[in-house]
Amino acid sequence: ATVQSLIVPDKNKNPVDVVLGHDTIEEYVAGDCYLGATIGRVGNRIGEGKFELNGEEYELFINNGPNHLHGGKKGFDRFVWDSKQEGDFVVFKRTSPDGEEGYPGNLEVSVKMGWKENSFTIEYSAETDKDTVLNLTNHSYFNLNGAGSGNIHNHVLEINAERFTVCDENCLPTGELAPVENTAMDFRKPKTIGKDIENDEPCVKLSRGYDSTFVISGHPFAKATGDLSGITLVADTDQPGVQLYTANFLTDSNGKGGLDCGLRSAFCLETQHFPDSIHHPEWPSVILKKGEKFESFTSYTFI
Ligand code: GAL
Repeated sequence: ATVQSLIVPDKNKNPVDVVLGHDTIEEYVAGDCYLGATIGRVGNRIGEGKFELNGEEYELFINNGPNHLHGGKKGFDRFVWDSKQEGDFVVFKRTSPDGEEGYPGNLEVSVKMGWKENSFTIEYSAETDKDTVLNLTNHSYFNLNGAGSGNIHNHVLEINAERFTVCDENCLPTGELAPVENTAMDFRKPKTIGKDIENDEPCVKLSRGYDSTFVISGHPFAKATGDLSGITLVADTDQPGVQLYTANFLTDSNGKGGLDCGLRSAFCLETQHFPDSIHHPEWPSVILKKGEKFESFTSYTFI
């Protein structure tokens, strides 16, 4: 359930592939950057890889400093899902068994991806037979000038968010939701991604670029334009947050067709609940209860 390629027309009507990916499954297996991946059971971080639910303690794999990241050692991105084509969509399904990566409950997950006119749409649904935690996202890396066309510093970005989650040195939220005003995190008016990317704002400095969750305050929640292609991406979701990640750890020179896809050569808009929500009961809950159905969507519309 990985987005390998998204081809859209540029201002001259030439086809442009706007996401990073690999040519072969072997490269996906060898890689650790989650290019285009469906992330679960819990995307982003869980502090110290531990949580308590219904009086029971659960321990998860630690794979990001002292914390758990993107579902653990073998997250949802590491499985070949069942798939079925339905018109312009593909429906991917898998059952994540009780205890997989330490998470409770047999979880039935479905991810439906495809095109509704010029919107690439992702619809998630999930059900569990025991209370569990869930935070699904898609980790597509966008370069609207075309995958492999250099860094995204001159892309213009707007994010409809008044606040962001302040993080510690391991990118784990402290619990504070700070105003973006007068910080490098302020994308309420369009600005280039590169404008404040070297700013002293701790969240940007510590991460060598953007790697933070924004609290979505209006819809659609983001708009980005490739300076060379004229392609605009308008993003929307029903999730409360979005992680803006500017490929600060990419060193991969093995993109599709041998294209160079290194540091800051793309940006991700990972729609999700706030990281480590299980330790912040005041935030929207990531608990999925037995008998409930989780449903969510994200859309990326190209103009
Ligand atoms: C992001 C995460 C980054 C990094 C990246 C994958 O979602 O916030 O810190 O781990 O995934 O390389």
